[in-house]
Parts: sequence; structure tokens; C-alpha cells
Amino acid sequence: MTWAGASARVLDSITRKRAGQALDPGQIEGVVADHVAGRIPDYQMAAWLATVACRDLDLEETVALTRAFVAGGKRLGLGGPGRTVLDKHSTGGVGDKVTLVVVPLVAACGVAVAKMSGRGLGHAGGTLDKLESVDGLRLDLGAAEVRSLLDEVGMVITGQSEELAPGDRAVYGLRDATATVGSIPLIAASIISKKVAVGAHGLLLDVKTGTGALLPDHASSVRLAALMAELARAFGLRCRAVLTDMSQPLGHAVGNALEVREALAALRGEQVPGLSELSRALARLMLQNAEPELTDDAADRRVAHALDSGAAHELFLRWAGAQGADVRVLREPGLLPTAPRRAVVSADRSGWVAAVEPVVIGTAALRVGAGRLVRGAALDHAAGVVLRRRVGDPVRAGDPLAEIHYTDADPAVAVALTGSAFTIAAEPPAPRPLIHDVL
Ligand code: URA
Repeated sequence: MTWAGASARVLDSITRKRAGQALDPGQIEGVVADHVAGRIPDYQMAAWLATVACRDLDLEETVALTRAFVAGGKRLGLGGPGRTVLDKHSTGGVGDKVTLVVVPLVAACGVAVAKMSGRGLGHAGGTLDKLESVDGLRLDLGAAEVRSLLDEVGMVITGQSEELAPGDRAVYGLRDATATVGSIPLIAASIISKKVAVGAHGLLLDVKTGTGALLPDHASSVRLAALMAELARAFGLRCRAVLTDMSQPLGHAVGNALEVREALAALRGEQVPGLSELSRALARLMLQNAEPELTDDAADRRVAHALDSGAAHELFLRWAGAQGADVRVLREPGLLPTAPRRAVVSADRSGWVAAVEPVVIGTAALRVGAGRLVRGAALDHAAGVVLRRRVGDPVRAGDPLAEIHYTDADPAVAVALTGSAFTIAAEPPAPRPLIHDVL
């Protein structure tokens, strides 16, 4: 394809889509390939993305876009013969450290899990940032190391290879710059293309719903979950999608080392509100993905045994050691990075906690250094927010609602934000389910 031919194709594609017509798969694959190869400039691709975001894509078009994103990139093919390998993905939320609990939990039940994780940006944290608070842990493994860890330990968590899904990489920044990040087919193709490139046998999608979710309205989260599950199945992945609550942070801790500490507590069998229940439920679904005949009761028993026997906790430590971590720090989580200063946010009235806005808490944590506003910014792994009250808890005026952990940052903004995140009402709120639906 010449430069002029590529330009004609993208313009024709924009014109058709703007007129509400469906694009044929070859045209979509051609446009993405031309963009990756530099045959069409970013401004034309930006116009294409904006048109798609306004006019939407149907399932066939979204399958073609996903295939186009994967094309020309590495395929890890982790789901080869011999053993079942599962993958899991969360659309991200505040205090979402479920990966750190559910991956070792499922692996301790005998099913291998491979997880390629990313970094946080804005109010939502990223698993890589959390794990980087563990001294020595290597998170840049190559494909051969991923395979040998799956054989030897049964789990792996590492950073995403730069070579997976080059089409997605090429448009990711453009989506950010054109306010098209919220387009459901663009999100679905972006996420599933990377899952197809990893190529596990099965996939569990944890799609958040609520004010802290990627898409704030429930109907959009439902549509995203259903579309991603359909896409994954179209590429031969056994997939379940779960809609889970993100109307308040998960657990108490928001911030990198704080979250690792809380995940370790959940793995030791402590009941961490939200986190423990969700991790068990997702682990059950993952086991059933690997072994479809497994009943709910049998799966729950295996999960409970892996937690109660200490096997899941031990497996996490063994895995971390195999990836270079100083395991002493995980056995004594007091040795993880710890902020030297605390600021307490207290209730200004008595009542019941009716809301703890996750985006506001995530932003407060970011303002003391736990997150980043621009890619590549340095983090304070010890910093963050620890909730002392969650939705539904009774509170008296003067009781602590949350603690800000900080090192050098001025905590004033974080304190004000955290105070504003809480709504205290005269009546207890109606309970919200943690799991809204399973698709
Ligand atoms: N994660 C991705 O990989 N892509 C998106 O578009 C959103 C979240």
C-alpha cells in the first residue's frame, strides 16, 4: 500500500463511518496496519478514532479492530497443551489489589495464572506500582521466564511486553489526546487485543461499576463487560465477566506499599472488607473456568483450604522470591516502605457513613505521592490513604475517618479531599452488592 493509497483508504473509512455505515473488516485492519507502519499520519488516525467513538462499532467491526491491534505483534501463546493457564483483568479502581490476592489463591488451588499488569495513571493505581514497593522484585520478565515460572511456581505477575498488540500501542496516546478513551468498542478492543496476544486458555474479566469505575454509569459498564466477554470468546478464550462494585475503595488501603500489606493480610486469612469476599468469589469463578464441572461448593472449599492452610500466602512468597524479591519484607510487612508522617481526618458529625467517593480518595492519595498525573513520574511507595471507616459504618463526631500517610508532600490538599470524600448521613445507607452480575 502506497502512502496515497493508505490516505485514500482512511478517508473513505472515515466518510463511511460518519455516514453510519459499517466498515468491512479488511478496511479496519488496513487502516490500523497503515497507522502502525507510519503510512497514515496521526491527525488522520485521530479523525478516524473520533468518528468511530461518535458512530460506534458493531461486534464484527470490533473483532476486526481487535485482530488489527494484535497483528504484527508478539503472541506469547501461554495457553499451549499440557496445563491450563488462566489470565485475569480488572478495568481498574481505587484500592483494587485483587490481583495480588486472587492470582496466588487460584495458583495454590492448582491452576496456573499468568498476569501481565500495568501502571497506574490518575486516581486509579496499577499493580506494577504496588509491587515495585517490594525490594528486588523483578517485573520485566521475558517470555521464556514467564513460561518457566508457570511450570515451577504456577503463577507469574509481570509488566506488559512492549511488543504485544502494536496497533493498540500506536493509538493509545492518540485516544488520550482526542477524548476518545471512553469509547466502549475502543476500550474493549484495546484490552482484549492484549489478552489475545498473551493467549491464555481462559480469562476472567473484573469490570468495575460505580463512581470509581472506568465508565461511571452502570449501563456502560454492563455493555463493556458483555462486549469484552463476546470478543474474548470470538478469539477462542474461555471467558467470564463479573461486574463488581467500585462505589467506594476496595478494602481500607489506597497506596502502593499500603495495598501490598493489606493484600498480604487477606492472604493470611484476615477478613479485609470487600477485598476478601471479592477475591474468593473471583477465585471460584477462575477455578470453574479451568474445570467447568466444578460445583460452587467444591470450588469454594478449595479456595477456603488454600487460604486457611496458608498455602496461598506461602505461594505468593515463593513466587515473589522466584522473581527476585526480598522475601523477609513480605514475611514481616512492617519492613515494607512506611511513611514517617500521618494526618488524621475526623468526622465532623455523628451518623452513618453513606458514601466514600473512590475518585476523591484516589486523588488524595495521588496528591501525597502515591500516584502520578503524567506517565513516568516518580512515586512515593509508602504514601497513601488508609480508611478507618467504610460505607455503612456508624461514626461519632470526632472519630477518625481516614489517615493520610506521607513523607515530604504537604498533606493539606489530601486532608481536605479525604474529608470531602465522606458523606455522613442520619440513617444507615441501603447496602450495595459487591458483585452486581456475572456474564
Ligand atoms: N486498559 C486498556 O488496556 N485499554 C483501555 O482502553 C482502557 C484500559
